[in-house]
Amino acid sequence: MEIPVIDPAVGYVNRPIDRFLNLFDEIERLKKEKNAIILAHYYQEPDIQDIADYIGDSLGLARQAAGTDADIIVFAGVHFMAETAKILSPQKKVLLPDLNAGCSLADACPAPALEAFKAKHPDHIVVSYINCTAATKALSDIICTSSNAEHIIRQIPEDQGIIFAPDRNLGRWLIKQTGRDMVVWDGVCIVHETFSEQKLVRMKVRNPDAPVLAHPECEPNVLRHADFVGSTSQIRRFASEDPRTTFIVATEEGILHQMRKDNPDKEFIGAPPESGCACNQCPHMRLNTIEKLYLCLEHEAPEIHMDEETRLKAKAPIDRMLEMSKAVK
Ligand code: 13P
Ligand code: SF4
Repeated sequence: MEIPVIDPAVGYVNRPIDRFLNLFDEIERLKKEKNAIILAHYYQEPDIQDIADYIGDSLGLARQAAGTDADIIVFAGVHFMAETAKILSPQKKVLLPDLNAGCSLADACPAPALEAFKAKHPDHIVVSYINCTAATKALSDIICTSSNAEHIIRQIPEDQGIIFAPDRNLGRWLIKQTGRDMVVWDGVCIVHETFSEQKLVRMKVRNPDAPVLAHPECEPNVLRHADFVGSTSQIRRFASEDPRTTFIVATEEGILHQMRKDNPDKEFIGAPPESGCACNQCPHMRLNTIEKLYLCLEHEAPEIHMDEETRLKAKAPIDRMLEMSKAVK
């Protein structure tokens, strides 16, 4: 099979697709033929979620990537997630439908900048949110996700100084929850920073019985109106278990697809962004489309590659995370 060379400016296999092809059937066929698995994050477009073998949050996806016996992992998510899969499963071919699917948090914390920052705080350990590059993970002591961050911080001895990178909102949220004083990196998610407090308050007035479910990447002025703060999986689980029938959801709107499938009789309202845009859709996550996913599986490109030294250095803090958060669902 000829593997196409990916133009970095384009980032995906740029070939025409027969308009009459049933892409769902074709993807199913290719998955079986190639012993491939599709892992998808909740922020993927609904068509991708519907064809995925597993849909989850960052922790669930990392666990799946570590445990799968497939030969190929198609990672329908962003670059740092596919990298994490490669770090945990180096013998597998890890594909990402669009290589340019990045993350504003990962961009905010380049490894050389973190290295210089660490030098200023030599007694601190680095806890990094999984939304960072492999090179940044390689400089970290422990990785965490929004599902297990609080659980992990609480296990670190009280007198141990901590640098928390790169999400300042998750960092501040953790300081509030745990009372730990941490040095927090100034990164932000461009999706979660767009929710408007003023519009959210108006939405709450119109829906007085609807709890607000928010992701900890949201700004503090939004989190203070939340009835529940958690990762995407935790938000999904909360909505299914809570008896109320209407929920306001402050995270990327892709999650609403599963929440509505789980609970067809409940109503889910996306929290409003600042302007009248669709900025509660992640522009990076949404670079992946069902068409690109099909081409990626068909041509086995683009593939994630990593040098072994970086991989091993990045794997140690991820392994520590997995070990420290066995009890976290
Ligand atoms: P979780 O799905 O782990 O909550 O993370 C959200 C996110 O922003 C992923 O990029
Ligand atoms: Fe990164 Fe935010 Fe997009 Fe998640 S939603 S991938 S944190 S930019």
